[in-house]
Amino acid sequence: MANQTMTKEEYLNKVKEIDTTKEAPKELDNTDFLTVAKERRSVRQYDPEFKIDRKEIEELLETATLAPSSSNLQSWRFLVIDELEEKERLLPIANNQQQIVDASAVIAVLGDKKAYEKADQIYSQIAEKGNMPEDVKTMYVNSIFDNYGNFSDERLSKIAHIDGGIVAMQFMLAAKAKGYDTVPMGGYDEEKFLEAFNVPEQYTSVMLLSLGKGTKAGFQKTRLPLEEVVEWNRYEK
Ligand SMILES: Cc1cc2nc3c(=O)[nH]c(=O)nc-3n(C[C@H](O)[C@H](O)[C@H](O)COP(=O)(O)O)c2cc1C
Repeated sequence: MANQTMTKEEYLNKVKEIDTTKEAPKELDNTDFLTVAKERRSVRQYDPEFKIDRKEIEELLETATLAPSSSNLQSWRFLVIDELEEKERLLPIANNQQQIVDASAVIAVLGDKKAYEKADQIYSQIAEKGNMPEDVKTMYVNSIFDNYGNFSDERLSKIAHIDGGIVAMQFMLAAKAKGYDTVPMGGYDEEKFLEAFNVPEQYTSVMLLSLGKGTKAGFQKTRLPLEEVVEWNRYEK
């Protein structure tokens, strides 16, 4: 293979240059789960004039946060960036990916490494609903503090990334079902982002999500055949 490569910024932006699709993302009449899952695509071109109001973004976040999380601790946190000035500040940090400014909002999915500190609040809610006896709740909360409180920073960060990945996916599907488009983005400088947006120290950055009205559908997805990614029961030695 020729020894040709690209800078990260070129790599991330090349896709728009080579993408010859013209049609807009599909508006779904049918939003049953399988249709939404099949039709979601990473969309990188947005109508910059189209604004999604905060109430609607909150509704998407409400749906997203129905996602499962480690011990239901919901370590996800979200920084919703919907002001142009702030999106412009983010643009160079995210390798000048134009969707950062053209999308209605960028949602920074963050993970709180100290999410376990809310265990009492979370499990008290469950107990108050009558879904857990008070003494079991106390045992749960104590165990969570014992366990998570002693986990390494690396382990807490890993948990936050798993929770964050799951909630991000649910957000993208909810957005598609509501007629909006997204692209998940890992192509940004995490350190610079955390600093520039005053993100609390205990939060780790999972990914950025653009949210907006797509103008171009982007490539249709292709995937490796299942036999290359699936084994049953055990791997042969
Ligand atoms: C963790 C992660 C990071 C990604 N980072 C970027 C990114 O920085 N910029 C971008 O344009 N797409 C990014 N993508 C989108 C992928 O390129 C895209 O999901 C993949 O090509 C499959 O296309 P599809 O989402 O349309 O199915 C990222 C996806 C994931 C899951």
